[in-house]
Amino acid sequence: MTHVLDGNAIGDRIRNDLAECIETLAAADVRPGLATVLMSEDPASETYVSMKQQACEEIGIRGVHREIDPDAPAKALFERIDELNDDPDVHGFLVQMPVPDHVDERRVLRRVDPHKDVDGFHPENVGLLVAGHARFKPATPHGIQKLLEAADVDTEGKDAVVVGRSDIVGKPMANLLIQKSPGGNATTTVCHSRTDDLGEKTREADIVIAAAGYPELVDGSMIKEGATVIDVGVNRVEADTEKGYKLVGDVEFESAREKASAITPVPGGVGPMTITMLLYNTVKAASIQSGVSVDLP
Ligand code: GUN
Repeated sequence: MTHVLDGNAIGDRIRNDLAECIETLAAADVRPGLATVLMSEDPASETYVSMKQQACEEIGIRGVHREIDPDAPAKALFERIDELNDDPDVHGFLVQMPVPDHVDERRVLRRVDPHKDVDGFHPENVGLLVAGHARFKPATPHGIQKLLEAADVDTEGKDAVVVGRSDIVGKPMANLLIQKSPGGNATTTVCHSRTDDLGEKTREADIVIAAAGYPELVDGSMIKEGATVIDVGVNRVEADTEKGYKLVGDVEFESAREKASAITPVPGGVGPMTITMLLYNTVKAASIQSGVSVDLP
């Protein structure tokens, strides 16, 4: 029987533990605050940001949202970032990516105070992660670590293949998998768009993490019998539905499920874990900044 990993259930358990941390902070008069900044009219980005805000509200984190006209000069965004850096009630914030072409993404990431960078994208936080002393682990790879742990998938000594080399998922995922610590110690291969024979690599893997952003790139013929398959993809493909599209992952679920011992669905797998771990980083930021210690899950 293939175990279909339920990101909603696992995420809920972590959120319950985080709610206790939030109570501990509240007893010391600290209310974690998370701000989101959106400089885009991309519907997917709008959806992600509103899901993050809703998750804050549900758990008792103070949510702040700032929107900037996508046609405004980059300066308008930098001024907002500076305000949030200086706001003591905002413990963490993020600028939803992508930003418009006339805004230099790297300058945006560097402008965020690394102590408030709950995405973990600032170069200082990337460096800490690579060095094995992460301050804020990026939410999606951290959520995947938690999913694997909850499903009793031991990574130690396993062959892992990460498909995708993005700064948001692929690179930090590979870095976490090679750490000399629980949830790491995997022999890790990173594949990408220039990989010669992707199937040859993924068929060797005990754990496949598909994060390339191509609909149903990985199918059952590319999966070893008994492997664990984690699907990070959220791709809109045209479909005869009310909205005119449907969401599919980077994995062809049905054929991969026949081979895998454990697999994540889309939706309901990695997605809910990502938001949960953003809440986790916000609670961690509030704890560090206030000096009130909490028992993070
Ligand atoms: N765009 C897609 N994923 C993310 C994310 O995790 N954080 C931010 N800030 N933007 C994104």
